[in-house]
Amino acid sequence: MLELNERNKKTKDFFNEIYNTYDKIHLKKMKTKEQLINKIKDKNSNEILDLGVGTGLELIPLFAKYPNANVTVVDISENMLKEIQKRDFKNSIKIICGNFFEIDYEKNFNTIISSAALHHFTIQEKEVLYRKIYNDLIVGGDFINVDKFANNIEEQEFKIEETIKNPNLYGHIDIQITVENEIKILKNIGFKKIEVEDTDIENYKLIKASK
Ligand SMILES: C[S@@+](CC[C@H](N)C(=O)[O-])C[C@H]1O[C@@H](n2cnc3c(N)ncnc32)[C@H](O)[C@@H]1O
Repeated sequence: MLELNERNKKTKDFFNEIYNTYDKIHLKKMKTKEQLINKIKDKNSNEILDLGVGTGLELIPLFAKYPNANVTVVDISENMLKEIQKRDFKNSIKIICGNFFEIDYEKNFNTIISSAALHHFTIQEKEVLYRKIYNDLIVGGDFINVDKFANNIEEQEFKIEETIKNPNLYGHIDIQITVENEIKILKNIGFKKIEVEDTDIENYKLIKASK
């Protein structure tokens, strides 16, 4: 398989290309983003970090529910981020263009959210990223992720094999692991109270884990 840095570069190029057609497809997935925002606890709504915010679709329900939240958003694709600026949010939003494996935020968050952005990584890479997420949360903070998952281990292995054989198959790298493996990673890092919910899209699950 391509190295993580090369895959991140591919992801960046892919989203920089498709930024202006992205919303047409993903507006159909707004319910998953609303479900994500509805899982944020009122007491944990002050400082929020969004990993892989893209064009900012989940910020619409987020600011509707929590207009006073301080929100930091990260994305590796500058073209996707420019779409957020066009939305002209009047709320507190700090935009960071960069790779979420590498950013030092210089503060901790009450809640870290992510929508459809973490299925580009292997189990070993997720262990590294989720440890960073854990360290970037306050004690009592929540990590809430809505994303694509493999239905079973065969599907997980098939996706990884496919990606190794043909890294250009999806234009960017699409690796899905099972929910069971995702939970194992979260537990090993120290996350507690792990909840899994189905969404209105068959292979999308919402997973909430607390520090
Ligand atoms: C499918 S889009 C999701 C956008 C938005 N969260 C939504 O649900 O509509 C995935 C986003 O994750 C970003 N992304 C993927 N890998 C990243 C990385 N390593 N660092 C920062 N952003 C990344 C991509 O650039 C892309 O904008």
